[in-house]
Amino acid sequence: MRLLKPALTALSAAILFASTTVMADPITIKFSHVVAENTPKGQMAKKFQQLVEERLGDKVDVELYPSSQLYGDDKVLEAMLLGDVQLAAPSLSKFQKYTDQLQVFDLPFLFKDMAAVESFQASETGQSLLTSLESKGLVGLGYLHNGMKQLSASSPLKVPEDANGKKFRIMTSDVLEAQFEAIDAISLKKPFSEVFILLQTRAIDGQENTYSNIYSQKFFEVQPYITESNHGVLDYMVVSSARFWDGLPDDVRGEVKSALDEAIIYGNELSEAKNEEAKQAIIDSGQSEIVTLDDTQRQQWVDAMKPVWGEFAEDIGQDIVDAAEAANQ
Ligand code: SIN
Repeated sequence: MRLLKPALTALSAAILFASTTVMADPITIKFSHVVAENTPKGQMAKKFQQLVEERLGDKVDVELYPSSQLYGDDKVLEAMLLGDVQLAAPSLSKFQKYTDQLQVFDLPFLFKDMAAVESFQASETGQSLLTSLESKGLVGLGYLHNGMKQLSASSPLKVPEDANGKKFRIMTSDVLEAQFEAIDAISLKKPFSEVFILLQTRAIDGQENTYSNIYSQKFFEVQPYITESNHGVLDYMVVSSARFWDGLPDDVRGEVKSALDEAIIYGNELSEAKNEEAKQAIIDSGQSEIVTLDDTQRQQWVDAMKPVWGEFAEDIGQDIVDAAEAANQ
């Protein structure tokens, strides 16, 4: 009997070890976003899930919640700080509650194209903005592209006066509010998930978005005109909470970050094609006419909206605005 005791103790220790090893739950990363799966962000999220599954399948489980299934962009950052969601990629216009600096991306006609946006994001100033949410407990993990915004409406918008008195849905950004005020239009800050119904019921006259979102959300079915204004950018910041991110084991954090970096590159490479594809599908549908602007008309929009920069430069930081403008060269 006395001889058996050490053997039994070793056996129970082995059973205990085996059961705790088997029972160690994978870390769950809930990635919540508001767009459809067949968009640059939806595709980036799927790529990230696939890479994590391949590399960390037994340790990390990525759950995707597209199309505002879990949270709208107005609530997702609060949920993240409470630990209910671990990854999100809200549009840069939706961080105003947390920092003024990211409002630089909303200034109308600041970036001439996506190459300028890319160059600013990669610059020292652009990279430093990824840390602008730190004091609020959020970690910026990278920028993700969607593309340039267009103006959709129930009537053709060729010159700024065509928008006078019209109601437009905007994201939660004071810069965007000022942009529409500058053309004597009315703006309403509404969640993305409500835009279709607002347009369909004619509660609003128009909205601004990328071709990819206009197509995947079916806005084109209820908006007979889309002015190709390219007046601003709609890009994202992929964020996590500092509490979750810093709490990951070092090796896991490193692998998750490299999967994320690869997925972002993938999404960014896809974004231009997705917007082109969406534009073509809208044209083919015959449901919405693309209104193009000649140089004189375009200049009128620039002249009307650009004064907005002056209203916000101090809050954003003149150095940040200057660095963004320099990215056009
Ligand atoms: C998104 O692309 O994530 C949503 C943009 C919007 O709210 O208009």
